[in-house]
Amino acid sequence: MDILVVGSGGREHAICWALSKSKRRPKLYCAPGNAGISQMAECLDILADDVSALVKWCNNHDPNLIIIGPEVPLCLGLADELTKEGFQVFGPSKAGAQLEGSKDFTKRLLLDNHIPTAKSQTFTDYEKAVAYVLAQGAPIVVKADGLAAGKGVTVCETTGQAELAVEEAMKKKIFGEAGSKVVIEEFLKGEEASILAFVDGETIVPMVSAQDHKRVFDGDKGPNTGGMGAYSPAPVVTEALNVEILEKILKPTVAALKRMGIVYKGVLYAGLMISPDGPKVIEYNCRFGDPETQVVLPRLKTDFVNICMAVAQGKLSHLKVEWDEWPAACVVMASQGYPGSYPKGKVIQGLEKAQAHADSYVFHAGTSLQAGKTVTSGGRVLCVTGWGKTIQEALDHAYQALGEIHFEGAHFRKDIAWRALASRR
Ligand code: AMP
Ligand code: GLY
Repeated sequence: MDILVVGSGGREHAICWALSKSKRRPKLYCAPGNAGISQMAECLDILADDVSALVKWCNNHDPNLIIIGPEVPLCLGLADELTKEGFQVFGPSKAGAQLEGSKDFTKRLLLDNHIPTAKSQTFTDYEKAVAYVLAQGAPIVVKADGLAAGKGVTVCETTGQAELAVEEAMKKKIFGEAGSKVVIEEFLKGEEASILAFVDGETIVPMVSAQDHKRVFDGDKGPNTGGMGAYSPAPVVTEALNVEILEKILKPTVAALKRMGIVYKGVLYAGLMISPDGPKVIEYNCRFGDPETQVVLPRLKTDFVNICMAVAQGKLSHLKVEWDEWPAACVVMASQGYPGSYPKGKVIQGLEKAQAHADSYVFHAGTSLQAGKTVTSGGRVLCVTGWGKTIQEALDHAYQALGEIHFEGAHFRKDIAWRALASRR
């Protein structure tokens, strides 16, 4: 069986790693992949958003399944193009991917179907947006409608900050066309958690909960990043909350999509605020989270190939998906300067020593091979996951393995899972 994974980050390394453990022993391809992925998959010289080159490669090689990792190719309609050619695809259509590609689409779907979320309004007119900010007061949240590489959201403590955020999005166009429409939203209080679910168009199978750390510095300070670490489970998500999230959020969302003629296949990722009045949707993503995947997939006991096939074929109800009780935690090692600009090509040392540690795994995020050496090639470079009987033990394993690895300018957070650990005391 041949499987193509599209993408090149830590998420895609975790996907390839989980696939490589399958009893079905698939032959893996990854476009474009990274240095870590190349140890388990044949990496292709095709970028993840090059839809026509990917379709051409599939037509020439006829893979049994294609798993699309990142949001950009999904929003470009890669799944639609591949499905049209008769391939089995894990990942939603362009219409389904609007859940991530347009915040306005999602807000309308949520509000029309009485799915709990923050109160909001969408604007295409700058003056009206500013008038709304002033009428609502602060704190308030300003969001670019379209994809902005995770940077389109500004949580504003004052109306002045919000006015500036609206101006930067709508007038200065710092997010390009993604910001010509903005969603202005009530600020929600509470603790965040991510619930990812497998969806085959009909059946929804939630995964174990996770929580990521978006801010770059310890204490959740500094600018937002793609994610500096994560842990699973998120203690804030109790059994009762899991049921409430499935019944009040995930099921009505998939049903609403179906009524719109959208058969959603892949991962539905709900970014939630567990507020005093219950869970509310902050955002949807149309794919696996990064780095949430690096703590969720290591806990999966069921054969991942079987799950991905079942999602693509609409047969998820036939499968029992089982999870390991042991928690997992991951720590991201980033390049100097990230999330701003950063150098590339720094030699990474100690990877073999780190890999020799038990109960941990080093997922590569932004790495490549240069003259036989593994070097940095992205902002987030590595993601070290540990597992153990408790979150503390999982973290200890992650940090011990990470301690073996060195590259110039590396930085990482030293307080991953502080909330979960505090809630245990
Ligand atoms: P997003 O890109 O939508 O995940 O938003 C980035 C971050 O902004 C989230 O993880 C939250 O921490 C924060 N955020 C977004 N929307 C809200 C909201 N309505 N209330 C409070 N915080 C929010
Ligand atoms: N960790 C956040 C995301 O994948 O969007």
